Amino acid sequence: MSLSLIARSISASPTLRLNEKAAILREKGDPVIHLGGGEPKSMAPLDAILAAVTTLNSGEVRYTPADGIPALKKSIIRYTEEFYNRKVSPENIIVSGGAKQAIMVALQAILNPQEEVLYPAPYWVSYPDMAKLCGAVGIPVYAEDGSFYPTLKDFELKVGSYTKAIIINSPNNPTGAMYSEKFIADIVDFCERKDIYLIMDDIYHRLIFDGRKPINCYNYAKDLSEKSKLIVINGVSKQYAMTGFRIGWAVANKKLIEAMTNIQGHQTSGPSVLLQKAAVGALNGIQSGVENLRVTLENNRNVLIDLLNSFEGVKVTKPDGTFYCFADFSNYEKSSNKLSEFLIDKVMVLTVPGKEFGMEGYLRISYCGSIKDITEGIERIKWALDPNSPNELYIGDRKLVRDWL
Ligand SMILES: Cc1ncc(COP(=O)(O)O)c(C=O)c1O
Repeated sequence: MSLSLIARSISASPTLRLNEKAAILREKGDPVIHLGGGEPKSMAPLDAILAAVTTLNSGEVRYTPADGIPALKKSIIRYTEEFYNRKVSPENIIVSGGAKQAIMVALQAILNPQEEVLYPAPYWVSYPDMAKLCGAVGIPVYAEDGSFYPTLKDFELKVGSYTKAIIINSPNNPTGAMYSEKFIADIVDFCERKDIYLIMDDIYHRLIFDGRKPINCYNYAKDLSEKSKLIVINGVSKQYAMTGFRIGWAVANKKLIEAMTNIQGHQTSGPSVLLQKAAVGALNGIQSGVENLRVTLENNRNVLIDLLNSFEGVKVTKPDGTFYCFADFSNYEKSSNKLSEFLIDKVMVLTVPGKEFGMEGYLRISYCGSIKDITEGIERIKWALDPNSPNELYIGDRKLVRDWL
């Protein structure tokens, strides 16, 4: 079969691939614990569901404007005022099929072949492939000190004449690292000086812990005119537990939004009206679910970190937000792919290999599931890796005998 160069350069999303693997094992009746997930388990807000149902019952389910329905744009304008203290117009907003599509059309609107987009490493698995889909090149920026927090200097060393954009995802998937106010201020200023687009992927910005407050990038922008190259991405997927609704958005200058709308108009048209109405329901409705989710995640994080700290060989950096922890298992196995496969095969616990996020030896462990899953999952991992644990483990009435240590 003859495939395009781009198609041949793109690999399957590892998280989606792992989800499929877990589903197949579960269908077989295997008691899989999924610590690889990227979605909260709470219910979508009732206001979202009712809004979608009301629209469906009306039978008025038609095409929407390619950049989103006015009612949702109104809610996003209010959201932007509340969380970014910034007044924007409907023409500054595009609603897309998830934050993923919003980022993708933004990149398609700004990147030429060979140009570069930079992002801190470890990074969300989709950024490199999104760059490739544009014929462009994704460049990970590693912190010189080996931490999850690169500095402006780390970026300066990688920026060249091909650099067109920087993506900052804070708090970060997969590490949960929230970059400091100073770093955000520095990077906003740097991008303005260098005339580089800055994409703030703020999809997890409200899911932060230990009393932190969301950081508003606009506070550090000198240029808030229609020439600004700042693009802010957000959506309902994570904060409202509405991953399957596929609604995200971008806020940017009008010219760029127009270009993104032209692209999206030919790609998918506007997202489904049912799902946009659901997003309006979520944004305008009772907000307590977001805080409940945040508190649950913070508690889950604390439980997970305590459990991981009981491993002698695991190095953990406490996540500042999200529902991911990126733990260093290299004392046990240098190849994260091998280790992840080993854990699913031996103890039916699903984790995501760090290599997929640009850092070998690590595993991404999600804590968006139940405390029971987190506790039992980590116990199983510990049993599989720790030579001091007993030789046998019961999973339900199945007896596992360890013959590999
Ligand atoms: C960093 C990051 N950005 C964007 C997205 C996409 O979110 P959505 O489900 O709204 O497309 C994800 C989803 O996992 C993510 O982790």
